[in-house]
Amino acid sequence: MITLAVVQFTPEHNTLDANLASIESAIRTIDAHIIVLPELATTGYFYREPAELDGLAMTSADERLQHLLRVASEHQRVVVFGFAERDGSKLFNSAMVGGYGTAQAVYRKTHLFYREKDVFQPGDSGFFVTPIPHLDCNLGTMICYDWRFPESARTLALRGADVIAAPSNLVTELWPKVMPSRAAENKVYLAVANRVGTETNAGGSVEFNGMSTIYNYNGEILSRVTNDVDHYVVITAEIDPPATRKKSFNAYNDIFADRRPELYE
Ligand code: ACM
Repeated sequence: MITLAVVQFTPEHNTLDANLASIESAIRTIDAHIIVLPELATTGYFYREPAELDGLAMTSADERLQHLLRVASEHQRVVVFGFAERDGSKLFNSAMVGGYGTAQAVYRKTHLFYREKDVFQPGDSGFFVTPIPHLDCNLGTMICYDWRFPESARTLALRGADVIAAPSNLVTELWPKVMPSRAAENKVYLAVANRVGTETNAGGSVEFNGMSTIYNYNGEILSRVTNDVDHYVVITAEIDPPATRKKSFNAYNDIFADRRPELYE
């Protein structure tokens, strides 16, 4: 069994240092093997045009991000957190994956939500799985609105994910009803790190609805944030990643082997 942690916190909009300090403090203090933090945890969420991220978006090689990964390694933790990524003239809504015993990887959000389309490029990393050999765990990553597309979690599961980390800034009433299906239909653990608070920019605003949750592979809630007032809450769960790999549930049925992709669009 390993310990999976989700941090629900409220990144500060339009600043970097305070958010990097919050992420570093979480990595230093939370006693867990894997720690998942929200989408765009380094910058806050609601931007209306690319120029607003000047000075805030970072390349994945940025020393400040590499420092966080080194701290994670020193504390024997794997970490997943959202950041605004700059690659040349392009911006991506990305998640950093790395830390102890784990090759660095960057997932770029595939399905952009709302005004993100005015700021970021659609992700081009595709869905991939990061092996964590010392934990016998294969970790997949998707970001927030990717949940709305069953193909996201399904692709990660078909590629061998035992656990899906979902850095998020969720806003709808629908996700708590549907998210458990993403876990159950793929028989994977799912860690949703959401945030609370409201961000206002140029007269528009976005309100985030908390309820960060760790689901088991039957879609049941292992742990959920019930206090959405505090702006920094940690939940943890003990999980058994190899237990997700047997996809059969009787002598006849296997949720992957029974698929009929030739009949699907
Ligand atoms: C979202 O994708 N941040 C809702």
